[in-house]
Amino acid sequence: MLSYRHAFHAGNPADVLKHLVLQRCLTYLTRKDKPLCYIDTHAGAGAYRLDGMQARKTGEYRQGIGRLWEQTELPPLLQEYRALIRVLNPEQELLRYPGSPWIAAQLLRPHDRLFLHELHATDAPRLQQLFATDRRVQVQAGDGFQGGLGLLPPIQRRGFMLMDPSYEVKRDYDTVTDVLDKAVRRFASGVYALWYPVVERERIRRMEKKLRNSGIPAIQQFELGFSRDENAPGMTASGMIVINPPYTLKAEMESVLPWLAQQLGQNGNGHFRCEQLTAESSAA
Ligand SMILES: C[S@@+](CC[C@H](N)C(=O)[O-])C[C@H]1O[C@@H](n2cnc3c(N)ncnc32)[C@H](O)[C@@H]1O
Repeated sequence: MLSYRHAFHAGNPADVLKHLVLQRCLTYLTRKDKPLCYIDTHAGAGAYRLDGMQARKTGEYRQGIGRLWEQTELPPLLQEYRALIRVLNPEQELLRYPGSPWIAAQLLRPHDRLFLHELHATDAPRLQQLFATDRRVQVQAGDGFQGGLGLLPPIQRRGFMLMDPSYEVKRDYDTVTDVLDKAVRRFASGVYALWYPVVERERIRRMEKKLRNSGIPAIQQFELGFSRDENAPGMTASGMIVINPPYTLKAEMESVLPWLAQQLGQNGNGHFRCEQLTAESSAA
């Protein structure tokens, strides 16, 4: 049984990185008029109250979106990200934080399609309810690894897949790279984004090695850390792996990650990485 609930973590520094990368990718992909298929393998509930019991209990959002909310000197890309979050907070007070499906639904157009997968028995109906009147959206209450793969290649022939598991099940660290491998075999030109937490640095080194040796071209990695890696339990950083990223993404992330590391780092221990894990394919 799943116990992870994203409501406790919504808007934390990991969400800031993940949703910034999501916004940059979808903003780029929707410049072209052709329809896009958006697949969210681990969608969550879609939107969260920050004044509710769960978010208040951890207060994690205060270290993430909370630190950007009133900032008067945000870099332009972060102003765009904050403007998106403000749509959900028309009162100007930070009361709600969106999930990845809501962000995608805002950025996508009438002719795009969204396929959202969520396994949790409480969050799946919430997601369904949130998008009940949006005809672009299909919500699947089931396993997103299999469900996402089953949609590839999409009929639109243009697709973006976000894979954002909670890693509550430890084999997810292996499953994610296996699923990416299968996904790229089925649909090589898709754009894939995978979120990962840095709880044990060694696990992430192994994942990076597997990806470097996978034969998959054009993989980039972006990481934002808030404290030094420790042997003690707890997340010290999180990252996004992006396959076939927009050509603009690396420069965009290089322009904002140093600022974010400084603002969201704890006691001056913020850090970041921006890496090309595998080269562009020579055939591309
Ligand atoms: C980190 S949260 C997702 C947050 C969301 N992507 C966002 O950015 O707002 C991970 C979600 O995956 C769900 N989940 C866990 N295993 C799953 C699976 N195999 N298939 C689909 N959903 C799953 C959990 O219930 C949880 O809601």
